Amino acid sequence: MKEAAGEVLEQIRTLLESSVDGAVVLDGERRILYYNPAYQAASGMRGRQLAQAAAEGKHCYEVFPLEICETNCLGCQARDTGRSLRVDEIRARRGSDGEELTLIVSAVPLPGGMIVETYRDVTADVRIQRKYRALLDLERRAKEILEEAVRDKTAELRAANEEIKRTQAQLIHQEKMSSLGRLVAGIAHELNNPINFVYGNVDFLGRYMDDLLALVDMYDKSSEKLNPELRAQLNAKKQEIEFDFLVEDSRKLIRSIRAGAERTAGIVRDLKAFSRTGGGEVSEVDLVMGIETTLNLITPLLKNRITVHRDYQAGVPKVVCHAGHVNQVFMNILTNAAQAITGEGQIWVKVAKDSERDLVRVSVRDTGPGIAPDILEKIFDPFFTTKEVGEGTGLGLAISESIIRAHGGSISCESAPGKGAEFIVALPVRPSPGAALTRREATS
Ligand SMILES: Nc1ncnc2c1ncn2[C@@H]1O[C@H](COP(=O)(O)OP(=O)(O)O)[C@@H](O)[C@H]1O
Ligand SMILES: [Mg+2]
Repeated sequence: MKEAAGEVLEQIRTLLESSVDGAVVLDGERRILYYNPAYQAASGMRGRQLAQAAAEGKHCYEVFPLEICETNCLGCQARDTGRSLRVDEIRARRGSDGEELTLIVSAVPLPGGMIVETYRDVTADVRIQRKYRALLDLERRAKEILEEAVRDKTAELRAANEEIKRTQAQLIHQEKMSSLGRLVAGIAHELNNPINFVYGNVDFLGRYMDDLLALVDMYDKSSEKLNPELRAQLNAKKQEIEFDFLVEDSRKLIRSIRAGAERTAGIVRDLKAFSRTGGGEVSEVDLVMGIETTLNLITPLLKNRITVHRDYQAGVPKVVCHAGHVNQVFMNILTNAAQAITGEGQIWVKVAKDSERDLVRVSVRDTGPGIAPDILEKIFDPFFTTKEVGEGTGLGLAISESIIRAHGGSISCESAPGKGAEFIVALPVRPSPGAALTRREATS
């Protein structure tokens, strides 16, 4: 038996001597019978030391302890079960320098209760694997950060793009408005003199007419003193010119000239009020007056078709704002409402003070077709329009929104198909310090 064991040992020695894996043959008590050079290298012991330990019958766990030696000895299990076993990633500490090693350990039972254990040092592999995993993690994280940054940047760019579009629209609008303002102011100024001339003189004309007629009357009354031939001539002339009709109609004509002149003067007043928009400075503005002026200007759009209901709360305070710009907002909203109504319809205009906050709220509601939800979310976008080319620019609401926003206010729309639309503008009575207005000391 002993001889057989010696033979086995000899065979194993030949087999394992030049193996790159550490190998050790143990007896049933786990005393070292044989070890190869790779085992010695793994254990970190000097050759003589290890030879002596083996000669002294030292146990393997005394010479080169693994983390499983005490609790879960692989060799013992192999010996007891008679089966070869293998465990990956067993940790051990090298005696010479204390370096932690990672090993793949196999245990094979040999005849006579002997055990052969082999140790493959995979420390470097595991380290590389760990590093590789860490690198992969790092790469994944970097990718995530990059993606996040790209997402943020894209959102930023999109927002900037929107802002540029809005600013562009606003600039176009400002340019348009200031030239329109100048044009309207010029027309109003040019019309002002002649219309004042007509309006101021029509009363005198009426009075002169009365005087002349009184004079004619006096002649008439003294006509019996004239010779019959002259009287006949005068009567013939009176008949020829239809004197009675002429007197009657002249009075009517003067009345309608007066009414026409009055209306024209009113329009000139509205144009002047509207063109004050160009000025660009803020003042205390009566919003109701602004709405009325605007309604007058769009009369042709409403006439004989749309009834306007007014609900103006009493004592609504004046609002510090750009009169012209805010009138432009009312103009845009009222025009949209009038354009939305085909045929006959109604518009309700409501002005009220918010009882809690220092706000004036203007609401314009119409009996138009209303707005579908997918369109509703776009109506404030610059250049969004559902109108025919040439009919709508899609700028009205975008500009209105930026004007109201510049005043620190808000504009919103509530609508559903078939339910009409309601636009609500809320303006702070005094713009907040953050509002982007070019402010001049407001006049009270
Ligand atoms: N009162 C309203 N009723 C229905 N749709 C409206 C109303 N006001 C605005 N809209 C919708 O909003 C769009 C954008 O309006 P706006 O910015 O004034 O541009 P535009 O009038 O030039 O089309 C309109 O084309 C229309 O589809
Ligand atoms: Mg419009």
